[in-house]
Amino acid sequence: MILIKSKKEIDYIRESCKIVAETLQLLKAKVRAGITTLELDRIAEDYILSNNAKPAFKGYSQGGAPGYPGSICTSVNEEVVHGIPGYRVLKDGDLISIDIGVVKDGYFGDAALSVAVGEVDDEKKRLMEVTERSLYLGIEQAIEGNRVHDISFAVQQYVEANGFSIVRDLCGHGVGKYLHEEPSIPNFGKKGTGPKLKNGMTLAIEPMVNAGKYEVITADDKWTILAADGSASAHFEHTILINKNKPEILTIC
Ligand code: MF3
Ligand code: CO
Repeated sequence: MILIKSKKEIDYIRESCKIVAETLQLLKAKVRAGITTLELDRIAEDYILSNNAKPAFKGYSQGGAPGYPGSICTSVNEEVVHGIPGYRVLKDGDLISIDIGVVKDGYFGDAALSVAVGEVDDEKKRLMEVTERSLYLGIEQAIEGNRVHDISFAVQQYVEANGFSIVRDLCGHGVGKYLHEEPSIPNFGKKGTGPKLKNGMTLAIEPMVNAGKYEVITADDKWTILAADGSASAHFEHTILINKNKPEILTIC
């Protein structure tokens, strides 16, 4: 069942999404060669807690994996998503995706962005640009009366036209009352198919794009998802609300 949120619920989701967006901007400004992913995690956790909210990923469990140990996900280079913050030191030329979920007063927000550490090569630069643009093209399709795979199709079409691959094993999702709700929002699909979109739905749209092939594998830590061919990967995500027949991005500040 796809939940339609009331005005009151949307106010709570808005607040969580605002904290997500602020935390992402805070971290974006901290990314530089020499910082560890764990330092980023600590900064995020402190900021989220200081807003009387909680990092939604911490302790989260899915598919029999142990509870997620971080407050955020930090995925570097060929790491696609769910990279665990640790003692890894970022270096010039790395591409890092930062994914943050927040829960406050029982309601969730979820967003991610990718950032260059210093100077990255042209392929990584283009990969980030194409992935971010594909997110916005997907969001444009999130209007009442359209269907879920209209979002998927828009993302896939743009990414593949640019010579990159859409990760297929992970999807966007409804979000708000739970971190992961229906519908599942794949980043590939056939126009005009999938569940119908309605005002009051809150969705996390999140293209994950590999510079090489789309296959992924799971690392020994049981969380980190890696591009199987070792190519670079980028990830951007927003929580949006379908509001008055238009998409409204909630994870901006
Ligand atoms: N944005 C990611 C997702 O929706 C983050 C989940 S991380 C986890 O899957 F640790 F909570 F799984
Ligand atoms: Co998500």
